Amino acid sequence: MAIRPVLRMGDARLLQVSLPVSDYPGLQELLSDMRDTMKALNGAGLAAPQIGVNLRVVIFGVPDQKNPRYPDAEAVPETVLVNPVIAPMEDGMTEDWEGCLSVPGMCGLVPRHSAIRYQGYDEYGALIDRTVSGFHARVVQHECDHLDGILYPMRIRDLGNFGFRDVLFPNSPMQEE
Ligand code: NI
Repeated sequence: MAIRPVLRMGDARLLQVSLPVSDYPGLQELLSDMRDTMKALNGAGLAAPQIGVNLRVVIFGVPDQKNPRYPDAEAVPETVLVNPVIAPMEDGMTEDWEGCLSVPGMCGLVPRHSAIRYQGYDEYGALIDRTVSGFHARVVQHECDHLDGILYPMRIRDLGNFGFRDVLFPNSPMQEE
């Protein structure tokens, strides 16, 4: 169990395409470190490449309304996804504000598919198959983007909607980073 340093935008490792997991004995330790790191930073999700491990593993979850970085977010079940696959539903795109532990202090307005079906495996190899929308769908798309070397600023349509969180939202507890 350890809190690991989170790589920040500019680090070339965040731009790599991560590898599928087949047989990886270190998975439990990796997940333990990812959970510790995400909790220490009040993140809603974390992808393995953010701690320098280029494997297709993400975790996410907003168990209640108490995450200070996402005070208005609906609850999202705590989930481990290994080798995730996303299929967009035909519901169009929605723009909303996102932040990222690899882009500390910033946030931006990012278009995402409004609803998706996602599949992957949990830490015990059981299949996860969910169709979700809203914030849940947004978090999954954000985390899975990390596995393809994509950071949310790359998806912002108008960079006028990108900036420092405490400037954009001075009266919001979202400025906590
Ligand atoms: Ni991120």
